[in-house]
Amino acid sequence: MDDVSMEKQERFSQRMTEILNAGALNLALGLGYKHRIFDVMEGFDAPASPGKIADAAGLSERYLREWLGIMATGRIVELSRGEAGEALYYLPKEHAALLTRNAGNSNLGVYAQEIPLLTACAMEAVSNGFVTGDGVPFSQYPDFQAFMGELSDAKHRQVLVDQFIPCVDDGRLLERLKKGIRVCDFGCGEGVAMNLMAGAFPNSRFTGIDNHEAAISKARDDAAGLGLINAEYCVADGATLKDSHRFDNRFDYVVAFDAIHDQTRPLEALQSVGAMLAKGGLFSMVDIDAATDQAANMDHPLAPFLYTVSLMHCMPVGLNNKGAGLGMMWGREKAVAMLEKAGFDRVEVLSMDHDPFNLHFLCRA
Ligand SMILES: C[S@@+](CC[C@H](N)C(=O)[O-])C[C@H]1O[C@@H](n2cnc3c(N)ncnc32)[C@H](O)[C@@H]1O
Repeated sequence: MDDVSMEKQERFSQRMTEILNAGALNLALGLGYKHRIFDVMEGFDAPASPGKIADAAGLSERYLREWLGIMATGRIVELSRGEAGEALYYLPKEHAALLTRNAGNSNLGVYAQEIPLLTACAMEAVSNGFVTGDGVPFSQYPDFQAFMGELSDAKHRQVLVDQFIPCVDDGRLLERLKKGIRVCDFGCGEGVAMNLMAGAFPNSRFTGIDNHEAAISKARDDAAGLGLINAEYCVADGATLKDSHRFDNRFDYVVAFDAIHDQTRPLEALQSVGAMLAKGGLFSMVDIDAATDQAANMDHPLAPFLYTVSLMHCMPVGLNNKGAGLGMMWGREKAVAMLEKAGFDRVEVLSMDHDPFNLHFLCRA
């Protein structure tokens, strides 16, 4: 091997070491997030022993000590010595600000659960897909909606009403929502976003649509618990609504958060949205900011993570029943082309300061 090749191999060996460590850390971070260990550690103002952290978290000290070894060597928590030489652990405030449930829109900890969860649900099914090309049914992911609800809460609670809505159509949507319009959350999941909007705009009426019965049932229960009399939920396959005419011309505003790319028939779903909008209506499709051409994503800061989430969930779910299988990284060019094909001829593609990883495709009826 010549010197250039040796150097290249050495660099890749270092990269492989980083990858193995980062992958392991992601798994351990996900477990820590699930068991609320970061939330507990955030409450300590000084370094604490594993026993103290385990007691406060209600967890096994032996498991916690092993986990803290990963967190300390991975530079997530700080390791120091107590007076008797014992190991003490501290979660710096700057790290807690990105890892705990209090972190709101800055919460990256919640994402650490995603790859472990998808792997636990569908490792074998996705692995089989490499051979058969078949999709994977949504039912393969029983824990997905609860996770998505948690993610949605972290994403939306602080910013949906105060930052996203006011920027739609230069503030005109906000004014219309205050006065009272008819809104649909298309692919609403457990209704986290819609219930926030329904609570903030009591003069408007909200309809959540999703084809997942359990998610709709949770959304309904939560809306009832919040006393929201302006929120209703329907189980429906979004792609069929254009033919059933069930909601034709019914809505002044339709929003789809992260809910088009993993549908099996996304074009028909977008055509349904077009049919559902009343004259002068608006449609906000919020979806991942990426390029359709993989080569243009080389500098995307989260590309390997997002492609992996897509491989483990979005793409196989979208391929099910001979579906389109767009995948999460379908990209802005393909998204605009599909919106235009569905009949939206004035698509504005807007970035959002509060959410750098998504784009807002604003369409007019
Ligand atoms: C990634 S989740 C996003 C959920 C929610 N909008 C949020 O941001 O939390 C995608 C949602 O689309 C729904 N979905 C997938 N295919 C659908 C279809 N054909 N009709 C209606 N909803 C669908 C799924 O059940 C899921 O709740």
